[in-house]
Amino acid sequence: MRSSYIQNNYGPVFENTVKTFLPQRCVELGVLDGYSTLAIARGIRNGVILSSHRSHLYAYDLWEDYDYKHGKMEEVQDRLDTEGLSEFVSLYKMDAYEVYKLYGTESVCMLHVDISNDGDVLNKIVEQWHEKLSMGGMLLFEGGSAERDEIEWMVKYNKKPIRPVIDTHEILNKWYIYATYNAFPSLSVFIRKG
Ligand SMILES: C[S@@+](CC[C@H](N)C(=O)[O-])C[C@H]1O[C@@H](n2cnc3c(N)ncnc32)[C@H](O)[C@@H]1O
Repeated sequence: MRSSYIQNNYGPVFENTVKTFLPQRCVELGVLDGYSTLAIARGIRNGVILSSHRSHLYAYDLWEDYDYKHGKMEEVQDRLDTEGLSEFVSLYKMDAYEVYKLYGTESVCMLHVDISNDGDVLNKIVEQWHEKLSMGGMLLFEGGSAERDEIEWMVKYNKKPIRPVIDTHEILNKWYIYATYNAFPSLSVFIRKG
């Protein structure tokens, strides 16, 4: 399975975050081969066992319609089936920037965004999703370390770095407590304050 999260074993970060916070409605933008999707699903399953809490992950990708590195929905579905995780996850084909329209105000407890992230993506996501996140809800955004901002394609294609957007974003700094796991590729976690 391909994932930049694999090299520093981010799976347990996703799994334990979900198991601990028990977010009810989870949304993921950017699935690829399903590494983070499966990890979130395992967290949901463990949370159900521990607390009889019902959570579900709605995961969106463009799959073969994405011109660059992408995965196959059927293969991710197979992986979910094989691990007995299908009941906790629904996979969809949809442009990530349209998904917010499907969700009501304060209706999403956890949003994971991993769609070739850069600073412009973070700006757009906050604009679209701030109102959709519940109080105490969580945005997990791939990236946020200085190292991640300097990877080859970010520099080559002159992409806006993520870190300065985090440090200066008015909404993020007013309405969220946040921190970044720095191990590559890094993961920024924003929790919406009441
Ligand atoms: C970095 S990969 C996701 C990695 C995955 N979360 C993991 O755990 O390894 C990025 C994914 O985002 C998808 N993607 C990129 N832009 C998108 C968009 N506008 N809408 C939906 N999916 C998109 C690509 O098809 C690709 O599968």
